[in-house]
Amino acid sequence: MSMFNTEHFAVIADIHSNADALTAVLDDISNQNVESIVNLGDHLSGPMAPRETAELLMAHDMLSICGNHDRWLLEIEREDMGSIDQVAFDQLDESHLNWLRQMPTTLALSDEIFCCHGTPSSDMTYWMEGVSAEGEIFVKPRNEIEKETVGIEASLFLCGHTHLQRRVDLPEGRVILNPGSVGCPGYIDDNPVHHVVQSGTGAACYALIEKTVHGWASTFKHVPYDPSRMIELAKSSGHPHWEERLATGWVG
Ligand SMILES: [Fe+2]
Repeated sequence: MSMFNTEHFAVIADIHSNADALTAVLDDISNQNVESIVNLGDHLSGPMAPRETAELLMAHDMLSICGNHDRWLLEIEREDMGSIDQVAFDQLDESHLNWLRQMPTTLALSDEIFCCHGTPSSDMTYWMEGVSAEGEIFVKPRNEIEKETVGIEASLFLCGHTHLQRRVDLPEGRVILNPGSVGCPGYIDDNPVHHVVQSGTGAACYALIEKTVHGWASTFKHVPYDPSRMIELAKSSGHPHWEERLATGWVG
């Protein structure tokens, strides 16, 4: 790993096996002469191109942490996995799984920058969003969001998992930021109640971070790409309903 530039870098997350969205994002990052990338997990579980995504990521110089789906690929028996984890598991060999095994769950990039998948203490918890009893997604109250930072000395907290780009500022210049999802703009989940998460854009999402004298500057990026090959792969692995989310960012 070359020296990570903690004052100017890109944050990516939730690729979910979308190799073509990943390629578009990596090209966009390099076109801006940004060399340092941190990747917040859920890399390979998805119905599109898990093995190809693993090969792309393993060949690229970046820092990565493990998401809940990456952990499930290592911990759960194949027959008990969800269908997108099964597609990934069936395409991966021991070298890919070993690459996942060496990833930490959280990562401090510096004294100032803390990375996690969900929250610092859980790869399954939505940090900034809540789900109502009716399945509506809402932004949590600031004090509830702030609770998760207790005990961690950092001014920039990076998280993924909800696939929603969001920045929330806390007192003393602290920032929590989710770069959105590179490869999966929407999904349906039944935990804690049935709910739909949708970004509303089919573009591949990520974020750029820059340290300034006034605090953390951030830019949310949306990179359009051609999803047709990924849609065909999703169909051929038995996930035709992924077409709408990949093409539009909306979940029907
Ligand atoms: Fe996740």
